[in-house]
Amino acid sequence: MQRTHTCNDLRTTHIGDRVTLAGWVNRRRDHGGLIFIDLRDRYGRIQLVFDPSTSKEAYAVGDRCRAEYVLKIEGKVRARPKGQANPALATGEIEVMVEKAEILNEAKTPPFYVSEEGEVEEHLRFRYRYLDLRRQELKDRILLRHRAVNFIRRFLDARGFVEIETPILIKSTPEGARDYLVPSRLHPGQFYALPQSPQQLKQLLMVAGFDRYYQIARCFRDEDSRADRQPEFTQLDLEMSFVEEEDVLQLAEELFTSLVEELTPKRVIKPFPRLTYAQAMERYGTDKPDLRYRLEFVDLSDVFAASGFSTLREVVKSGGEVKAIRAPGANGLSRKELDGLEEMAKKQGAPGLIYLGVEQDGELRSPVSKHLGEGEKTAIREKMEAEPGDLVLIVGGEPKVVAAALGLIRTEMGQRLGLAAEDLLAFTWIREFPLFEWKEQEKRWDAWHHPFTAPGDEDLHLLDQDPGKVRAKQYDLVCNNVEIGGGSIRIHRREIQEKIFQIMGLSPETVQSQFGHLLTAFEYGTPPHGGVAPGIDRLLMVLTGQSNIQEVIAFPKTLQATDLLFQAPSPVSEEQLKELYLRLDLEED
Ligand code: AMO
Repeated sequence: MQRTHTCNDLRTTHIGDRVTLAGWVNRRRDHGGLIFIDLRDRYGRIQLVFDPSTSKEAYAVGDRCRAEYVLKIEGKVRARPKGQANPALATGEIEVMVEKAEILNEAKTPPFYVSEEGEVEEHLRFRYRYLDLRRQELKDRILLRHRAVNFIRRFLDARGFVEIETPILIKSTPEGARDYLVPSRLHPGQFYALPQSPQQLKQLLMVAGFDRYYQIARCFRDEDSRADRQPEFTQLDLEMSFVEEEDVLQLAEELFTSLVEELTPKRVIKPFPRLTYAQAMERYGTDKPDLRYRLEFVDLSDVFAASGFSTLREVVKSGGEVKAIRAPGANGLSRKELDGLEEMAKKQGAPGLIYLGVEQDGELRSPVSKHLGEGEKTAIREKMEAEPGDLVLIVGGEPKVVAAALGLIRTEMGQRLGLAAEDLLAFTWIREFPLFEWKEQEKRWDAWHHPFTAPGDEDLHLLDQDPGKVRAKQYDLVCNNVEIGGGSIRIHRREIQEKIFQIMGLSPETVQSQFGHLLTAFEYGTPPHGGVAPGIDRLLMVLTGQSNIQEVIAFPKTLQATDLLFQAPSPVSEEQLKELYLRLDLEED
């Protein structure tokens, strides 16, 4: 080995030891006659001292060093002089007096300084990702990711799960996004699709009898990127046989609770709260509510049904609803802030945002208060449990619009009022999703989650009569406003699977060509089964409190789905295209 210790190993117990270290020059300071270098590696940092009276040669090497040079030294550990210890550094009480030094490699002046905290332009971070990865915060997140995946593997291994790899070159799987396609050279004109998830493969592994499967699975979806979405990402894909919903929820809950407790200083709510999809929409206007705080919706429709306030009365009359949240202690918001909130609500399609401030004497202060009778005011105060100093925010309109607008206002107020405890991870299960959603453009039903999800037993009779009312055996795991994972109990009988495809309007020919393999498999002894697939990237986002998924991926894509380091995607040669029997038909730009 070229070193005896890493840059984070040495403490006061090593004083007097002769050591060999290697790493990168984090920072070099010249103190007139003495040179100090912070040497850095993956593990940490340590201070080196180059003193010409110890070694002239070593001092000359230290003098040549610049940021990011790769340096190897030999020297003696000593205590830092009195008053010079650095409590922020694990090695902060000692330093190494350098006796021999060798530059293993030089470095150009970097486009940004690894040692400096603060913002660096995004394109530079992507283009020089290997330098970005040397920065402590990003490096620590990547290391935590490693520990989390390692924890998951150990946890599942101890419970009899088998890790099995499934193919990346496969056939289109319907998870709702566009596929990435790969042309086949041996079969001209034909294409593989990269898996959007190993959904069908894991179900086939259950047919095969593996009973408990998992995989740290790479998935590919050609959809527009967002802060929490990448074209390729990683799932903890998991499937179990002979289980019911409760078994899957219990397992995932135990896994994430123990993972958080072992690897982070954060807290989780135990047991994870559970909401049905209907409850989540009704109370929070979203199927991924942040339950670190309450700010629940209160339905005021009946208060306004016969109100003198015609705007809201008409909303209720025409089948809409009026809902409100109470923001504790927010009566002091300025007119400008309130206008800002109203803008947010309008962007979601709401006609406006009505606000009522609760004064010290209990009076409701609002631009619309002249439209409200005493009875209404009392009803609002009581229903909202309003206290002096509170702010009541009201949105009226179609249920979908109210959900979207007030949901957003809720999140915004949660943030502004600092209601979301930073150290809390409010994992929550959302259950009983609808099995289908209506696609207005295509005039047909589509699977809400995916077509392999089983309908709830008590709703089976609705499949023919009223597909929109059927609830699925589907569950999502959400945490602090982020959807971490989704899963379901699957259909394991051919006739029910065929029925679902039929309701979705797929022709028997389409079903046969796309899903024939699965339907056939169902005829050879398929056990009841179900599973879940939490996103590893999303999990790391919430564990580290990041709002952008790029911050937990070593080599992420940009929002335009490009890789700036490799300059991908990129054109390929005529020769390559020819081999694949492809000819481009690009518009002249
Ligand atoms: P679903 O499509 O809900 O379910 O995906 C499961 C989880 O994968 C993560 N995820 C993503 N992460 C980053 N970027 C993306 N583009 C992206 N898309 C999805 C999310 C999401 O909750 N086969 C089913 C699972 C099952 O039924 O077992 C599936 O893929 O964290």
